[in-house]
Amino acid sequence: MGSRRVNRPRGTRDFLPEEMEKRRHVEGILRRTAENFGYREIATPTFEHLELFTMKSGEEVVEQLYAFEDRGKRKMALRPELTAAAMRLFSEEMAFLPRPVKVYYFGNCFRYERPQKGRYREFWQFGAECIGPSTPLAAAEIVALAYHAIRTTGLKGFVLRLGHLEVLRGILEGLGIEQRTAMTLIDKGDMVGLNEFFIESGVLGEELLMNLLNLKGRADAIERAGEMTEGLNRVTEGLARLEEISSLLKGAGIEHIIDFGIARGLDYYTGMVFEVDVPSLGAEKQICGGGEYNLNEIFGLNVEGTSGFAIGFDRLVLALENEGIKFPVFSPSVGVIPMSGTGTEAFILAQRLREAGIPTELEITGRALKKALSRMKDTRFTLIVGESELERGNVVLRDMKNGEQEEVPVKNVVGVVRERLKGKGKTEEVSA
Ligand code: HAM
Repeated sequence: MGSRRVNRPRGTRDFLPEEMEKRRHVEGILRRTAENFGYREIATPTFEHLELFTMKSGEEVVEQLYAFEDRGKRKMALRPELTAAAMRLFSEEMAFLPRPVKVYYFGNCFRYERPQKGRYREFWQFGAECIGPSTPLAAAEIVALAYHAIRTTGLKGFVLRLGHLEVLRGILEGLGIEQRTAMTLIDKGDMVGLNEFFIESGVLGEELLMNLLNLKGRADAIERAGEMTEGLNRVTEGLARLEEISSLLKGAGIEHIIDFGIARGLDYYTGMVFEVDVPSLGAEKQICGGGEYNLNEIFGLNVEGTSGFAIGFDRLVLALENEGIKFPVFSPSVGVIPMSGTGTEAFILAQRLREAGIPTELEITGRALKKALSRMKDTRFTLIVGESELERGNVVLRDMKNGEQEEVPVKNVVGVVRERLKGKGKTEEVSA
């Protein structure tokens, strides 16, 4: 009978222990940073009513979703992101709380995309949402959190870009061109397509837009944009707000550039928007996106302002690996090796060490001492439980760095090991 192999689904990944240790390490840094900023964790279901994602973006998004009908004929979807879900949770459970409500989340998301390096059908997002005020301080703080979270992981080669949708929308409105298509093209950075769209639409005067986009990265971008767009009120207000947020960030040493070409793919953004790129990642270089948004209508809310971001966790980890960041690797502190006939004692000893919080690896295969020691090479100490030493009430403690061995009373072993792991020398008195 032939066996049939079932592979993992396209665009998904398995994570081996080493990879998981890296991921948990990075995740821990992100969590701690969010908590330092006063954000508290929430979790929402992996699937939601399809409507949650189509209400704002229309039926077209279904093509990018893992959407399905359940047995009760309800239309459902695996979540493509967590902002809509976080706001649903807020409207159902937290709307009565004093504001701001600051929440963060870490979870898997699903998008029906063409997979490539850095782009998956299942990926993880670490994100935060600040629900309440619409002040520049609120907007600046959310950017600061994203920046610090990324910085604290040790990543160096990233660029934070800041823009404002009122600037972009105000100009498109002034030009009288259909906004959604134009915004999609700008979001993709498809300047050829954008040009064609202007021609097709019979709209002239796109130089203003192009000139604005070309200000990207200039120190005087906001000022220059102000000169170019005098009289366009929507744009002027957007620029003033962007200036305030940008100054706050500058004051706190948060390096960023201005980019009026940030359009964001999702439909709920309203004001300041930002993205973080890691150029060395190539095509899928965006590791974070966010900004001010409004989902009040959908949830019947009257929140003054909402802002948030999500970090593409998988891309962040890829970027850290590319930069050669060292991750802590797990290895047990202590090994315990039974000799023939001492399995029970070794088992109990390993148990005592673990109960004392010392990571311990027990040799369970019955292999010969030499092989067992080589298997334990990454431990700091190994305890060899031999019959003759046991008769004297002792076990052998082997220092795996230099191979030195000594006998230690079984009853003192946990205390001795603990002290040795702290780096105390052999000669010191140690009590059990
Ligand atoms: P987004 O830009 O769609 O924003 O996604 C955020 C990040 O998730 C992206 O910058 C990227 O790093 C990562 N990402 C997106 N798609 C994939 C994929 N297929 N594979 C790997 N990584 C991916 C949002 O989702 C908004 N909810 C962010 C937000 C929160 N805005 C306000 N609050």
